[in-house]
Amino acid sequence: MKIINVVGARPNFMKIAPLMAQYTKYSQIEPLLVHTGQHYDEKMSDLFFRQLDIPKPDINLEVGSASHAVQTAEIMKSFEPMLLKYKPDVVLVVGDVNSTVACGIVAVKLGVKLVHVEAGLRSFDRSMPEEINRVVTDSISDLIFCTEQSGVDNLIHEGISKDRIFIVGNVMIDTLLKHINRAQNSTILNHLHLNSNDFAVLTLHRPSNVDDYIVFGRILDALEVIHKDMPIIFPVHPRTRKQLQDSHLMAQIQKMHYLGLIEPLGYLDFLKLMSSAKIVLTDSGGIQEETTFLKIPCLTLRENTERPITTEIGSNQVVGANPAKIIEGYKQAMNGQLRNFKIPPLWDGLASERIVEILIDKLSG
Ligand code: UD1
Repeated sequence: MKIINVVGARPNFMKIAPLMAQYTKYSQIEPLLVHTGQHYDEKMSDLFFRQLDIPKPDINLEVGSASHAVQTAEIMKSFEPMLLKYKPDVVLVVGDVNSTVACGIVAVKLGVKLVHVEAGLRSFDRSMPEEINRVVTDSISDLIFCTEQSGVDNLIHEGISKDRIFIVGNVMIDTLLKHINRAQNSTILNHLHLNSNDFAVLTLHRPSNVDDYIVFGRILDALEVIHKDMPIIFPVHPRTRKQLQDSHLMAQIQKMHYLGLIEPLGYLDFLKLMSSAKIVLTDSGGIQEETTFLKIPCLTLRENTERPITTEIGSNQVVGANPAKIIEGYKQAMNGQLRNFKIPPLWDGLASERIVEILIDKLSG
């Protein structure tokens, strides 16, 4: 069974890593890895390949950054000839980035079986590009792997046949478990002069937060309050840095002595930082899950989450970009309200093993 695996952007790398490792145990699987090049900076891509032991991609489409339509179209144009050349039995895509949907569409149109890992998640917010990518990819996939029960329920509600859907756990947690001990050797706390459990971590990159200066400014207003209690470490995504440089907001940040802007971190340093933090504030999807597993309170700076299990069990609170709600959520978290919960079922480090067994059972021969 020849499987072309697709990655494009940073959050894809931790999802593909355990699958690539798992394939090596099965002689009947011939994996190929395609990097679309959606993310291309050393700190957004190559560093993750090295730290997560992901094999060098067999093919790099080198599409780079562009508008959604152009980026998606460029990926499709470059991916189609690869499928014609390598003739895989299966294309496997992960997550919800433009590379996911672009390669998914190309695969099914060429009659290649499509597998979607981390499927079924829904924010029910169609202004999010990722929501469109999720809905489209799920609707055309042959096998669909979910991390939580809400994913299964959403797919059934959308009319997807039950026999295509499997709840298998979370491949990102497979990666976290594999690397958590190694991450403890990271020197990032010393490097940033931080004491464990005495600082907050912030990540922001959603267009709805960082492309709108008013929204971004309101988040900074809330941070002005929190940073009086503890330093806030802010590894800045390239998209966010660009927005900051183009705006007056940098001046507001510079006045906040304890808001530390740093370059994007590699996986191990970020894991160490997150697992040592008192609280994490983020608009990322994956970080809501990682903090849940690490039992670090998380405030989600968005109006919704596609990962409702995290709010149901109480590890995560959705506070949007409203300063009063952010500060209230922060106070509740500091009172210990987000710490008392059980890890979601099947987030046990074995998701990739389950996925590969199902692939062999359902698709080989
Ligand atoms: C993409 C994903 C998003 C994911 C995020 C994680 C889509 C629609 N969005 O958003 O779901 O959460 O990745 O990071 O697929 N840039 C660089 N270097 C890079 C990559 C990007 O400088 O290696 C800059 C470019 O200016 C680019 C901008 O960041 O225009 C945005 O990159 P893009 O890939 O379009 O979207 P992300 O915001 O990273």
